[in-house]
This record gives sequence, C-alpha cells and structure tokens, in this order.
Amino acid sequence: MTRGLVLLAAALASLGVPGPAADQEWVAPPEERARTNPVPASPEALQKGRFLYRKNCQRCHGEKGKGDGASGRYGIKPPEDLTSVAKQAKLTDGEIFWKLTTGLKDGADVIMPAYKREIPADDDRWKVVLFVRTLPNPPSPAP
Ligand code: HEC
Repeated sequence: MTRGLVLLAAALASLGVPGPAADQEWVAPPEERARTNPVPASPEALQKGRFLYRKNCQRCHGEKGKGDGASGRYGIKPPEDLTSVAKQAKLTDGEIFWKLTTGLKDGADVIMPAYKREIPADDDRWKVVLFVRTLPNPPSPAP
C-alpha cells in the first residue's frame, strides 16, 4: 500500500468506517470456485473433518456452524451462519476450500486465519469441507 492509501485507511478507520474486507463480500476467484472435492465422503473422512473443525474452527463458527463460537464475538467481523440454506447454496466446495486455505485479513487484522500451515495436507482441508457440508447436523463422534 502507498503512504497515501495508508493515511486514507487510517483516517477512515478513525471515522469508524470499516476497511475493505469488513464491508465487502468475500469472493473466491472463479477457478477456485469451480474446483470439486476430490475426497469421497466416507465415515472416516467425516470423522477427520469433524476433528479438524472442532480443533480449528469451532471457537468462532460454533459447534454446529451457527457462528456462535465464543471467540467469534470478539472479532471485527462476526462469523455468519454457515448452516443457512442460502449460504450453503451460495458456497461451492472449491470456495470453502480456498477460503479456509487462504484466510481473510483486513489490513493487519486477521478476520479468519489461513489454514494452509495448520492443516498442511490438501486432503485434510477437503475433509473439513466435507464436514462443513454436514452442518447444522454434524456426524456424531465415532464410537
Ligand atoms: C477467528 C475466528 C475464525 C476462525 C478460527 C475460523 N473462521 Fe471462518 N470465518 C470467520 C469470519 C469472521 C468469517 C467472515 C464472515 C463470514 O463470511 O462468515 C469467516 C468466513 C468463513 C467462511 C466463508 C463464509 C462465506 O459466507 O463466504 C467459511 C466457509 C469459513 N469461514 C470456514 C471456516 C473453517 C472451515 C474454519 C476452520 C478451518 C474457520 N472458518 C475458522 C471467522 C473464523
């Protein structure tokens, strides 16, 4: 960012005007949106996705994806309800994968962390996508 833009952003922030990421829609590039999940849904894949979701995502998105996780309340942008029919219909598998891989920032503020390092195997991140698709009725833990 140039110095002018930084100053402008600072001035807008002081006026309480949200930065770009806070008020604009978060859209994945078309080629990412078009990707399909290469991991078939199996009980094992869903259990792994469930485990990773509980470990990484639940604190903001909530146990059932309603956006009611304890940490979600403190961010500059609260998580939306991932379980709504409209939201599930709007999101593609590729888009969910891309969003959790790259995360979302507003300047230096992390709105949602990027999970490329935390969940390094592509297949594991696709398993999280499988799990997100089961919300708001996630599978029960394996017996
Ligand atoms: C620090 C809190 C936080 C964590 C942890 C977090 N998210 Fe998010 N997430 C957000 C916020 C805030 C948004 C942006 C608002 C929105 O679109 O819901 C978001 C957006 C999303 C979206 C896009 C929704 C849309 O409308 O485009 C998906 C999908 C998502 N998160 C999945 C995940 C998954 C899966 C994980 C774990 C791997 C995760 N998030 C971890 C806070 C978080």
